[in-house]
Amino acid sequence: MGKDKATTLGSDGADNTRVYRTDDLIVYWDARQCSHAGKCWRNLPQVFRPDERPWVNLASATPEEIIATVDKCPTDALKYELPEGSKVNPEIAQGMGSINYKKLETTSIKVKMTRSGPLRVEGLAQVFDADGELIKQSHRIILCGCGKSGNRPFCDGSHASQS
Ligand code: SF4
Ligand code: FES
Repeated sequence: MGKDKATTLGSDGADNTRVYRTDDLIVYWDARQCSHAGKCWRNLPQVFRPDERPWVNLASATPEEIIATVDKCPTDALKYELPEGSKVNPEIAQGMGSINYKKLETTSIKVKMTRSGPLRVEGLAQVFDADGELIKQSHRIILCGCGKSGNRPFCDGSHASQS
């Protein structure tokens, strides 16, 4: 269990990102990017609790466990960084969930269909809107394949809640 008291700093204003902090770890959550696939709460239910407020409780697991879970988030909804003075080994905080994540660009990306609807994009991809404006660049993108998302072209989990 993390011994630091976890605090919720609330939204950072501009982009609805929520910020959760201990002395060793800062976690960011952007609801607009969440596909509600549930990897976080299935992996670490004592930390990621969708039915409670605040829904992220960093004090309920070690920073290392939380980092490993955030790295598994299939979108950019969850990210982390180490605050100054963190006791976490920086080498384990360099995964896809790190706000500083950088990966060598690959020459091609993969788009994989899933049986439940979402399209998983693997590799550094850029998404443009109908006017040609770049709206997202990331290694972690889940696109809506069912047409029901309220945040198209990104999946927002609506495929699971509607028949
Ligand atoms: S997209 Fe990320 S934050 Fe949203 S439910 Fe899935 S694992 Fe959790
Ligand atoms: S595939 Fe998830 S909302 Fe459409």
